[in-house]
Order: sequence, then structure tokens, then C-alpha cells
Amino acid sequence: MNGLINWSELYKRTAGRKPPKDDSVDLAEVWGRSADMYDRMAKMEKPYTQMQIDRILAGPEDSVMDIGCGPGRLTVPLAQKAGRVTALDLAPRMLEYCEKNVRAAGLDNVTIKEMDWETAQLGKDFEKHDVVVVSRTVALNDLIRLNQTANKYVFLLSFAQMPSLKIIRDDLFRGIEEGLMQPREDRMFGYNLTFNMLYDLGINPNVNVITDGFTKDFESREAAYDDLRLLGEVPPEKMDIFRRNVDPWLKENPQGGVTFRRETKTYIIWWEPVELEGK
Ligand SMILES: C[S@@+](CC[C@H](N)C(=O)[O-])C[C@H]1O[C@@H](n2cnc3c(N)ncnc32)[C@H](O)[C@@H]1O
Repeated sequence: MNGLINWSELYKRTAGRKPPKDDSVDLAEVWGRSADMYDRMAKMEKPYTQMQIDRILAGPEDSVMDIGCGPGRLTVPLAQKAGRVTALDLAPRMLEYCEKNVRAAGLDNVTIKEMDWETAQLGKDFEKHDVVVVSRTVALNDLIRLNQTANKYVFLLSFAQMPSLKIIRDDLFRGIEEGLMQPREDRMFGYNLTFNMLYDLGINPNVNVITDGFTKDFESREAAYDDLRLLGEVPPEKMDIFRRNVDPWLKENPQGGVTFRRETKTYIIWWEPVELEGK
């Protein structure tokens, strides 16, 4: 059904807008370059990630597919509660981290697959799973395909409002690196579009918006700067700028050290798959 507003078209022209296809860009390589940074950020997100996992309905009897799994931020805790997890991503470097993190957690119920979701076919490259989880990746655009891929539930996750992981990381490197992402202040083109697109498909989506964030304890301010600078590269002459960027997010903690903390919001939209007429 189309409502008065064409949400899909609005989505395509705003939040879901894709850059023109450029075959000279190797997306696996581009994403791979962020793997180390993303893995470090994901480790700082762990207590907040657990709150997302607590809301994902998957139990020991369920198979779960984590599409665009990255370094396994969700894969690892999902495999701790579900029967088995298929983790797929197109970037081998991300999958190396994912495999390392799965192994470090002592898990043997994860299948890791290198795959481009955009060209992968149901029944040929992957099978239906009980629960499909898609977080902060391109598959968030494919609502109809996701609906067809899950037996029990589809879960979509991403940042509800700014700041995103990338902005939180980039804020530490302002005045040091070029071409950083700028925060978007408006609420116009967010998960409201996804909710409405699902609604118009005949789906009744559930929405949770929960606190997300990044945190880590350090023995001292210097230890914090030394660690956080590994999220990028800081030349020695720019260390003063870096310290100034980090300081607003450091607080003395009761253990006599300091804690880095920056919070944001994540949305979780989930639904039970439905038969879609003519799709
Ligand atoms: C921002 S990370 C999100 C990682 C993880 N889902 C999470 O929430 O922490 C996006 C991931 O999607 C992967 N990705 C991007 N395009 C993809 C595609 N076409 N097929 C499979 N994975 C893709 C990237 O390689 C990257 O690991």
C-alpha cells in the first residue's frame, strides 16, 4: 500500500541515497581500512552493545544471520545466546577481526562468510535464518529482501540520532585529519522513514530507542591519550590538539584513574516477517 507520502522515494533521495556506482572503488578494501579502528571502537561499546543484544529475540533453538557483521560486535554476544550464527561481510579484514573475536570468546557456533550482500542470492549464496540482524550497514535499505530472509524476526539497528560511531571517533581528530564527517543536526531523515516504509508494506514494526555509547577506563590521562590516539594517527606536533579534543570526554573515576565516556542513542526496529503480496 502507498500512503499519502511516498516514504521509499523520500528514503532513496535522503538517508538511503547511494553514491553513483564507481567500479574503480573496491568497497572491501575501503571497509577493510576501517577494521582496526572499528574493532577498537566496538570494544569500547561493549556494555552498551549488551543492551542491544538483550532486546534481540534469539534463543538456543535459533539460527541467526548477522549481515555486514564487521569485527563481530554483535556476532559474538549473539552467538553466546543463540544456537548458531552466520556472520557475513564483504571485507576480509573485518572478517579477520570477527574470527579473532569469536575465537577469543571460545565460541564454535559461528560460520563466517565473505559475501557481498548486494549481489548475494537467497537459496544460492545463503539460506533463510530464524532471526536476521542488520546493523549500520547497506542491507538496512533492503526491507523486502530482509523480510523474505527471516523465519521469525528481522532486527534493524543503527544510530537514532547523532552522534554516530564515526562522528564520535572523528571528533577526537578534528584539527588533525582532513575530510572528517560532519554531524547532521536535523531529525528529518532518520529511522522515521524506515518505520513508515515498513508500515506501508503491511508490516507492524516495533521500535526501541536505547542509550548507546563508548567507554573505557584508564590509569591516567596520559594512558588515555596514548590509547585513544590509536583510533587514527596523531603527529607529535598535533598532540596538544588531540588532548584538547579528548579532554571533554574524560572524567576522574573512583579508582583514581580516568574514564572516557561518550553516549548516544541507537534504534532497534524489529518485526515478524509477513507474506508480502506480489513481492
Ligand atoms: C559500520 S560497519 C557495521 C558492523 C556491525 N554490523 C556493527 O553493527 O557493529 C559496516 C559493515 O558492513 C560491511 N558491508 C558494507 N557493504 C557490504 C555489503 N555489500 N555486503 C556485506 N557487507 C557489507 C562493511 O564491510 C562493514 O564491516
